[in-house]
Amino acid sequence: AQVTISHGNARVTAELPTGESVVVLLHGATVLSWKDAAGDEKLWLSEAAKLDGTKAVRGGIPLVFPVFGAGSNGEATKNLPQHGFARNSRWEFLGKSTSEGDSSNVKLDFGLSSGDLSDEHQKAWPYRFGLLYSVTLTRESLTTTIVITNDGDEPFEFQTLLHSYFRVKDISKVSIDGFDKAAYVDQLAKMATKTQAGSITFDGELDSIYTPAGGPKEPIVLSEDGKPRLRIVRDNLDNVVVWNPHVDKSAGMSDFEPKDGWKKMVCIEAGSVRGWQKLDKGDAFEGAQTIYL
Ligand code: BG6
Repeated sequence: AQVTISHGNARVTAELPTGESVVVLLHGATVLSWKDAAGDEKLWLSEAAKLDGTKAVRGGIPLVFPVFGAGSNGEATKNLPQHGFARNSRWEFLGKSTSEGDSSNVKLDFGLSSGDLSDEHQKAWPYRFGLLYSVTLTRESLTTTIVITNDGDEPFEFQTLLHSYFRVKDISKVSIDGFDKAAYVDQLAKMATKTQAGSITFDGELDSIYTPAGGPKEPIVLSEDGKPRLRIVRDNLDNVVVWNPHVDKSAGMSDFEPKDGWKKMVCIEAGSVRGWQKLDKGDAFEGAQTIYL
């Protein structure tokens, strides 16, 4: 049996012969769905998410580049929309690859470069860059890797983040490990700097940027009812944003449905968003996450 790929005008779907699958929307190269062999969905996607390219997708794994949060968070990004343009641009599908004769994995590659941007975004961020985004599906994991290159003569600075929305059964029973003693910035408390003690649990809105003390290789474990469900290992992405919008934030997002959907999701977002990464002419940055079942 072979890996099955279908490539339409709007999305690319890959399925392993054993049933695991992934769906990537070309708008934003947003991973919309990741299912295990039993067909269980691992990602949360809003029922009101716009998938027609008119808005960034509310759910799945939108890609944040070149700024996290408000564009005005940076001098060079001040005219960009929230979370940058990558999640709001149409990417090109560059093709698939598998290790020779091996149908237990598939890698899908997507590209976006300065020339693909809308005039408005190009004007707002006039650097020459290339983004290569790879989505690798195996029987037990999903890896998403971003490679950013500076193809111009001017150096540029950026932030990037893999804004993963995970599906959970009941947020009140979720705990996330890998953050003990992590310094974090509480975005709901005027960016106050705090230190995490023990697991992260949820009893209201939470929106913080953590820098786990053990570094990127220290796994993050998402548990439900005390049972480990997913494990995330990062490569070269030092920060992790954890976000749950709870009642009021969800009510304010027109594309967030059902309105009590916050009970069924949590965002764990691996990235580099504290300060800026600088890329000189010809240089490249690579960052990745692998999510294990
Ligand atoms: C998170 C931020 O990464 O994204 C939150 O930490 C923000 O502050 C959330 O609300 C969603 O952002 P957006 O632009 O998709 O509504």
